Amino acid sequence: MSDNQRKILVTSALPYANGAIHLGHLLEYIQTDIWVRFQKQRGHNCTYVCADDAHGTPIMLKADQMGITPQALIDQTSEEHQRDFSKFLIGFDNFYSTHSDENRDFSAMIYTALRDKGHIDKKTITQAYDPEKEMFLPDRFVKGDCPKCDAKDQYGDNCEKCGATYSPVELKNAYSAVSGAKPVEKESEHYFFKLGDFENFLRDWVDNHVQEQMKNKLNEWFDAGLQNWDISRDAPYWGFEIPDAPGKYFYVWLDAPIGYMASFKNWCDKHQVDFDEYWNKDSQTELYHFIGKDIAYFHSLFWPAMLEGAGLRKPSGVFCHGFVTVEGQKMSKSRGTFIMAETYLNHLRPEYLRYYFAAKLGSGIDDIDLNLEDFRLRVNADLVNKVINIASRCAGFINKKFDGVLSSEIAEPELFQSAISKSELIAELYETREYSKAMREIMHIADQANQYIDTAEPWVLAKQEGSEKAVQDCCSMGINLFKIICAYLAPVLPDVAKDAQAFLNLDDFAWQEISKPLLSHKINKFKPLMQRVEEDKVNAIVEETKQNLAALEEATAKASVSELQQEPIAETIEFADFAKVDLRVAEIVNAEHVKKANKLLRLTLSLGDETRNVFAGIKSAYKPEDLIGKHTIMVANLATRTMKFGDSEGMVLAAGPGGEDLWILEPHQGAKAGMRVK
Ligand code: MSP
Ligand code: ZN
Repeated sequence: MSDNQRKILVTSALPYANGAIHLGHLLEYIQTDIWVRFQKQRGHNCTYVCADDAHGTPIMLKADQMGITPQALIDQTSEEHQRDFSKFLIGFDNFYSTHSDENRDFSAMIYTALRDKGHIDKKTITQAYDPEKEMFLPDRFVKGDCPKCDAKDQYGDNCEKCGATYSPVELKNAYSAVSGAKPVEKESEHYFFKLGDFENFLRDWVDNHVQEQMKNKLNEWFDAGLQNWDISRDAPYWGFEIPDAPGKYFYVWLDAPIGYMASFKNWCDKHQVDFDEYWNKDSQTELYHFIGKDIAYFHSLFWPAMLEGAGLRKPSGVFCHGFVTVEGQKMSKSRGTFIMAETYLNHLRPEYLRYYFAAKLGSGIDDIDLNLEDFRLRVNADLVNKVINIASRCAGFINKKFDGVLSSEIAEPELFQSAISKSELIAELYETREYSKAMREIMHIADQANQYIDTAEPWVLAKQEGSEKAVQDCCSMGINLFKIICAYLAPVLPDVAKDAQAFLNLDDFAWQEISKPLLSHKINKFKPLMQRVEEDKVNAIVEETKQNLAALEEATAKASVSELQQEPIAETIEFADFAKVDLRVAEIVNAEHVKKANKLLRLTLSLGDETRNVFAGIKSAYKPEDLIGKHTIMVANLATRTMKFGDSEGMVLAAGPGGEDLWILEPHQGAKAGMRVK
């Protein structure tokens, strides 16, 4: 095997660091992960790297809004992304960030090479500028009325009502989505990558390296003419400064694909692997990018051209997939179908979805529909009723009657042969990303196994005198088929495969071993490897998705003056009522942001001998770090309120018209935590 061991580097697109992973993303990571696990199972040297795409205006502005640094935001997101990915059993060898030293160096190196070969142009362009925030505005951050149909609140690049496309300066009543200010036009010099220099190279390269369906799309782009690509952005920008241009930064999409190299380099350094062997111009290693069809332009034109210009190797293939739809429609928050990875995982194990996507994925770019009813029925029918059932029908007899030892021979050599003879076909289907066809082949073997057991009826034999050997043979046959099926499914169901190995008393499911029968082999006790998908679990996912939306909407509703004024005027109370209020000095020992809440901060208040968790609607006015260590006044005997985000055990006193002008009350310096106030 080692003679024809391939060295393969695989990537999935780098998820943006300003949003959570959802089931749409997961199609891609699952598709890639299955492919990588398959290659590893075949004995190849396959490395899978990814990273967060950590730069750009949206990330900068989101951090700003949250009152934290971009670095803090991308650190937090990285943790959340990695948690979701690992729970979905996505086996990255390395998960890194585009905001890294390696990436800074590679970006500078590639840019410099392109510049020195004359592939960079400079040109002064006019752009929308926010005079208040003092920044140029990307099209998406200019809003206004559509110049064609007058629809209100449209983005600066196209109208969602009438579909018109235009430039932001054409919008009527334009305003900056960042500050609300009226944008002005402002000139600035930009740097451009001359893509047209690479037309011949690209036409050639595309011919051999992208899917048929993509070629047509790419030909349209060639016919439209390859435009210069604007690769610079002016400060303030969250990214890498261009080496020879202070105040100018690389546009996020320039350093994003270079992030593949950076993540791999970071892994190479940790594992003493020769990076250059993989990236030199004549590399014999293979490089594949798995991406969604929305980012094909970047990966099939800009990226290979950049690599060519910089004298580096080009991808061996760019594998595009379609988009996930749910119930036949674009994922939608209000329908409860914009399902986050985390929400799904709160109710179901990841392998159900891995299998369902595998059962639907082909090598093309067609969209993949997740129909929740079909999902449940399909997983139950295939995995639980067919596959797991084989083992549960046979294991008991072997364990109880034969001490867990399988027969010394294969009862039905033909059936066994037919199952292992599919090995190369199934391998070919995985290799070419025809997973749905692979799943069909595997389920066909499972059907045959079940039919065999149906006919052999071990449970009837078990009651007949003198049929001992027949029972052992038949159940051993079933277990052997189960082993083959689990080995074939291992790339899709890594945890099931692990549990199956424990049950079968095997170390792994190496592909070359699939044809070896288990003879006179001792197996272990059988535990059910997978439960049915219950309908209420699926419904709970949709329900929780809708609730997430509601929580988000509530949290983003602004605390405005008018809102405060709408509160009913309190009725007069007696002194005795007032005396009931236990006001105390509290020390703010911790303050932090609350995920998905726009108004709230979570405060940890010390009363000297105890601490309280309190949610306070003061986020618009305070940065958490500025509150820590301050004293304030709290109502200490307020009944605990259970909120979406947790229990609130009291209330702090604050005053002001609202927004940024909101002050928590601070007692005199002499105050100590726990003191009574009256
Ligand atoms: N940051 C860029 C990629 C840079 S790669 C050098 C980006 N990020 S993304 O978070 O928007 O998307 C990451 C991947 O998920 C992309 O390949 C994208 O096509 C894919 N998907 C995002 N939503 C999807 C669906 N609804 N369905 C299928 N794939 C989807 O693009
Ligand atoms: Zn319009």
